Amino acid sequence: MIPLLDLKAQYASIRSEVEPAVLRVLASGHYVLGEEVAGFEEEFAAYCDAKHAIAVNTGTSALHLALLAAGVGPGDEVITVSFTFVATASAVCYTGARPVFVDVEPATLTMDPAKLEAAITPRTKAIMPVHLYGQMADMAAIKAIADKHGIPVIEDACQAHGAEYKGRRAGSIGVSGCFSFYPGKNLGACGEGGIVVTNDDEHAKKIRMLRDWGQEQRYHHTMKGFNYRMDEIQGAILRIKLRHLEAWTEARRVRADRYSKLLAGSRSVRVPIAMMDRRHVYHVYAVRTHDRERLQHSLRSEGIHTGLHYPIPIHLQKAHADLGYRSGDLPISEAAAREVLSLPIYPELTIKQVDQIAAAVEQDAYVS
Ligand SMILES: Cc1ncc(COP(=O)(O)O)c(C=O)c1O
Repeated sequence: MIPLLDLKAQYASIRSEVEPAVLRVLASGHYVLGEEVAGFEEEFAAYCDAKHAIAVNTGTSALHLALLAAGVGPGDEVITVSFTFVATASAVCYTGARPVFVDVEPATLTMDPAKLEAAITPRTKAIMPVHLYGQMADMAAIKAIADKHGIPVIEDACQAHGAEYKGRRAGSIGVSGCFSFYPGKNLGACGEGGIVVTNDDEHAKKIRMLRDWGQEQRYHHTMKGFNYRMDEIQGAILRIKLRHLEAWTEARRVRADRYSKLLAGSRSVRVPIAMMDRRHVYHVYAVRTHDRERLQHSLRSEGIHTGLHYPIPIHLQKAHADLGYRSGDLPISEAAAREVLSLPIYPELTIKQVDQIAAAVEQDAYVS
């Protein structure tokens, strides 16, 4: 059996480093926002080439606070994409603002800059592209439009730790960038976690206060804040994992290249497009196919597990029906939602397994 993701294998490879660190935290008696979290913030900021990093409890909280720091609130609009995990839009709704969706580019499935300007209104308070699957959106084009209108860009980099656009790291181009450390992410906690990175001193200060009840000083609440703090155990584990992240990312890229080489001429699937000016970190390796259900079943019968990221775009989700979108409004996103199929990808997946999966995909094409 080949799972979509194998967190036990990753843990086995770093167990000797993680266990003593967790035991040290347990013995320290300091469990929330301490030395480990502060150390991780410094190290992650350096990793992203950003001045500040503020650790929080989830990627969704990171997005929420980044939006609040940008002044987003009730009555405002935030332009984002629909072909993403639901949290992207939910974070906008938490602020009382309304998500406005633009379609994605067919090649990268990230925000289409050509559709952006028409969506800007006097109420637009932020633009939030998503670096889907680990490949950054077209940040130069998006920033140029945003700057022209004086609108801040917040990067949803929850799937893109270490991704680059023209040599610049994810999270460091917009006014802020938000990451998730959900266990299955390229850098994952043993529980929940998230972080905001920013070069803006004011945003950093505000986010730091908002994550801890809006207090600058204990029991002096300057703002209405939240309990979005990170645990010390997660901070300690993430510091260890961050030291392995580059090697893990390269292993993902090697596996993705192998898939793309083996499936380049496939009759049943189209491989993902990696743009020349970007470093794709392959959080997800999604092929596209017209008969997804059959391919998914046929791989399952060979013991190969696959995933769907994502089968329903947000604008067609029941929970967001109040936004008033209809089927057909975002055709590229809707087609992607019908066609994408995620193949297993993680550093511990062997090259032999990649070959086996690619052969099973091609076998299905041969049978059809
Ligand atoms: C694109 C995107 N945005 C936001 C999130 C939310 O992160 P979290 O699950 O840590 O709240 C995720 C991950 O789950 C994500 O993939």
